[in-house]
Amino acid sequence: MDGLKSILLVYLLFYLRCVCGSTILCESGFCRTYRFETGCAVTASECSINNATHTGLSMLSPTVCNCCEFCLPFYGEDLHCSRGGPGMGTNVGRCGPGLSCVASDDGFSYCRRMESECHSAQDDYEARYEAGDVGVLESPPICDGKGSYAHFDCVPTQTCYCQSDEGERIFGEVLNLGAVTTQNMHCGCSKMHEKIEKNIASGLRFPVVGPRCTSDGNFNPIQCLNRTCYCVDKITGRIDGDHSINLDYEPIKALSCYDATLDLFPSQSQGEAPYNYTTPCLEDLREKIEFILKSEEDGYNVDLFNNLAGCLPDGTYSRIRTTRSGSRICVDETRHQLGDYEALPGTQQFEDMDCKCAQTTAIMKALNERPVCCNNGNFRTIQCRRGLCRCVDSDGKQYGRESDTVTSLSCYKPDWRNLNSTDCYAR
Ligand SMILES: *[C@@H]1O[C@H](CO)[C@@H](O)[C@H](O)[C@H]1NC(C)=O
Ligand SMILES: *[C@@H]1O[C@H](CO)[C@@H](O)[C@H](O)[C@H]1NC(C)=O
Ligand SMILES: *[C@@H]1O[C@H](CO)[C@@H](O)[C@H](O)[C@H]1NC(C)=O
Repeated sequence: MDGLKSILLVYLLFYLRCVCGSTILCESGFCRTYRFETGCAVTASECSINNATHTGLSMLSPTVCNCCEFCLPFYGEDLHCSRGGPGMGTNVGRCGPGLSCVASDDGFSYCRRMESECHSAQDDYEARYEAGDVGVLESPPICDGKGSYAHFDCVPTQTCYCQSDEGERIFGEVLNLGAVTTQNMHCGCSKMHEKIEKNIASGLRFPVVGPRCTSDGNFNPIQCLNRTCYCVDKITGRIDGDHSINLDYEPIKALSCYDATLDLFPSQSQGEAPYNYTTPCLEDLREKIEFILKSEEDGYNVDLFNNLAGCLPDGTYSRIRTTRSGSRICVDETRHQLGDYEALPGTQQFEDMDCKCAQTTAIMKALNERPVCCNNGNFRTIQCRRGLCRCVDSDGKQYGRESDTVTSLSCYKPDWRNLNSTDCYAR
């Protein structure tokens, strides 16, 4: 028994020594000696210059105890780069954002712009710019460091909206107030919904309910799991603080992050407990799913809701609503009609209705100069402002040069002024 104890003791001492040893190794004297005996490699100058062409990332050196300064330079376009490999020096840098190291015919490698749809769109814009074919309200596509589209796009003088990595417009739109807007537009929630939709929802029977977003595509600061609600960071969606409430006893108003302007259905927090934090669309969806599951349990074959529609990322119904008479109207998040946009069944305007212009003009309601929408709430292809007309796409974004002669526009159609015509909007 004593033998075992002493073995344990020796083992423990040995173990402790190892742990202590590794912390003792890197105490301050070690680096002084290391620098004196081994010396530090000269750091790349890029980190200390840090101007438009010379940038780098200051990091801990990849050596024992991180005794040296280290700078990882970012190489610019067309500069030599190394694709790495065993025995590469520690001062080898990387190609900067949006660039990748590509082998060339001359045997060397160079930093080249990554091939991506966004970069091609930028090239196209630049070529048209050189040729003088870019409109006043056109802006170049913005790409991120990986060559994907930036998470939002803006139409000058109108709105900014969220977009996917592929540049497709997704949920989330706000008034374009310049830098103030773009700094607060992160679209993290909206992009998460888009990824859920693209990657997992197609394999499931019922629509997936993701995190609750706000109309700008950020995370709603209040998120609930079952009956427990807590505050999250609107940019990252991560839980913020450790305060939570239980809806059986307290309304969401009791949370410090409660913001009345973001509460679309405040009546759920009024009166007596239990309180709720749901939306008519989510409730509707839940009831339908329950009904289907219950019917199946009872042995019925339910093909009733084959295409069960999900809700928008803010938990509300689609912005296109079908009326009792079968026509379609544009609505806001509380299902109230926007303007008098309407399309009758059996018409092309009905089929093509997207209500994007109706949404945008509603967001711009306090402004005088708003885009013109067709009767179905889509953007009119030709928009005119201060004597100049231009072609816009279905998001209201200009393409090509403006002109004071409508007939010279590439999108010109004789019936463009008729808001009830299919020539009114781009198809
Ligand atoms: C950045 O600094 C380097 C080195 O001082 C210089 O050669 C280069 O011209 C500078 N680039 C710009 C854009 O100022
Ligand atoms: C939510 O409730 C369901 C059923 O009541 C339960 O199965 C699930 O584990 C709960 N989820 C959490 C995160 O508490
Ligand atoms: C919350 O929902 C429950 C069940 O639908 C309902 O009975 C209750 O009145 C709701 N609470 C409030 C404050 O609306």
